[in-house]
Amino acid sequence: MSSDLSSRLNRPLTIGRATIDRRLVLAPMTLLGHIAFRELLAGFGGYGLLFGEMCSARRIPHEVRADSAYFCWREAERHQLVMQIFGADPSVMATAARIVQDNGIFGVDLNFGCSVATICKQQCGAALLRTPDQAARIVEAVRRAISIPLFVKFRTGWADDPTIPVDLARRFEAAGADALTFHPRVAPDRRSRPPRWEYIQRVAEAVKIPVFGNGDVFDGTDCLRMLETTGCAGVAIGRMAIARPWFMAQMTELLTPDPGIYRQTAFALLDLVERHFDARRALRRYKKFALYFSANFKFAHSFYKRIGNARNLEALKGELEAFFSREPVTMDRPNMNFFQ
Ligand SMILES: Cc1cc2nc3c(=O)[nH]c(=O)nc-3n(C[C@H](O)[C@H](O)[C@H](O)COP(=O)(O)O)c2cc1C
Repeated sequence: MSSDLSSRLNRPLTIGRATIDRRLVLAPMTLLGHIAFRELLAGFGGYGLLFGEMCSARRIPHEVRADSAYFCWREAERHQLVMQIFGADPSVMATAARIVQDNGIFGVDLNFGCSVATICKQQCGAALLRTPDQAARIVEAVRRAISIPLFVKFRTGWADDPTIPVDLARRFEAAGADALTFHPRVAPDRRSRPPRWEYIQRVAEAVKIPVFGNGDVFDGTDCLRMLETTGCAGVAIGRMAIARPWFMAQMTELLTPDPGIYRQTAFALLDLVERHFDARRALRRYKKFALYFSANFKFAHSFYKRIGNARNLEALKGELEAFFSREPVTMDRPNMNFFQ
């Protein structure tokens, strides 16, 4: 099974005028898919693209890369990085996308999936799925502004009806999108019910552009099943890539993890967040990561409590040292109660 999976994943895929060499990608995740975490992933490899945290299109023209916590990247990752933007105004989105392109980044992703109230109140994210004409106008405007790959990430819509995402996917393709990432959940459901993978198949069949399936891929069996049953071109991995940053390298058979990987990864990310962020931001980001990472351990609560209570990075380091002073008991599959 696993070699079948890796041979499916380690195949090039053309997206617009570009080609990626693997079909597994990191899904965009706010406060998780940041520059430090992406550097950690780069050490493992196994992915075709990394989607960054969502950025407000309005703010991008005012962001200074050297000071920004999210509109920032390493030179070495630009060719595999996709910046996700959110906004409601086509011209503002087009301007932001152009800035992304001018910075030599691989691609732009439009966020039409976030159903958090603060985003939807501004008619952004998943709110745009209620106004497909406006969503299509955004895709068209961004398409006119850039020649680099243009992605759209969206979900089922606001009612559990597969004809909605099929119609949306066709509109996005007609408006100029080069690829889609589809998470088959209704807004505002935040992962409480399982995603409906059968809708991925409907979407993938409806368009000619590549579709990345997304939602609840937690091991190789899930990944292979998503590819086989839906016919999607690739898979976007969210929480599992946080819990096990080597997950994509493992799926593509670049790496076989050994028990020491948990300790090494925990300390490596601590170093990286310290390097890339000020102390307050580094602590906040590490704690967010720790929620998903703790799901690996039999004593997940104890790990998460230790990290969650740390008042500063020094204390956090001490807690990691104490926790890993004995080899922790790990789970075959992470404890899903920690996967919010
Ligand atoms: C903490 C967190 C933050 C997220 N932030 C974003 C985001 O900024 N943009 C986006 O399109 N999706 C975001 N998502 C959704 C993920 O990209 C993905 O669609 C979702 O987690 C399902 O994939 P998974 O089951 O592999 O985790 C976020 C998810 C989580 C858990």
